[in-house]
Amino acid sequence: MKRAIYPGSFDPVTLGHIDVIRRASKLFDFLIIGILGNSAKTPLFSVEERVNMLKEATADLTNVEVRSFHGLTVEFARECEANALVRGLRAITDFDYELQIAQLNRVIAPEIDTVFLTTNLKYAYLSSSSVKEVAAYGGDISHFVTPAVEKKVHKKFEEIRSRRI
Ligand code: PNS
Repeated sequence: MKRAIYPGSFDPVTLGHIDVIRRASKLFDFLIIGILGNSAKTPLFSVEERVNMLKEATADLTNVEVRSFHGLTVEFARECEANALVRGLRAITDFDYELQIAQLNRVIAPEIDTVFLTTNLKYAYLSSSSVKEVAAYGGDISHFVTPAVEKKVHKKFEEIRSRRI
């Protein structure tokens, strides 16, 4: 049984992430999406909110599970009994950073391999940060996220704006 994890912040999950998840779910028997709870970045959504968004977005994928984790990604992979770690690569700028992390992870956990999936060209420009930036200024994010996530992102920024008033 080939088990893999797909770790990330997913703040929020984008169509680029979903494309990677769908493709990885075909490559592996079981895929566990790991949402990092202890990121240095201050997230827009709580871990629970992100778990729910990802569960909704992947509800039709029977071999995909969504979990949150704290600590090292490779420790999470071990807990999941996974021997592969999936990451999406959008551009050469991602590669430098991702290669460094993959090599470091390989030293810590040599039994776990990092598998890179090149992001669909349709989503090569897309990131959670850019989605948040566009939404923060009231822009249209419907091309970047699912309709359910779109609603939640706009609601979150409305709440933030109303707290400021
Ligand atoms: O979606 P992101 O923010 O690009 O995901 C980055 C993530 C969560 C995969 C990465 O930051 C991570 O693995 N963090 C957990 C701590 C860890 O294991 N770091 C790797 C060694 S530096």
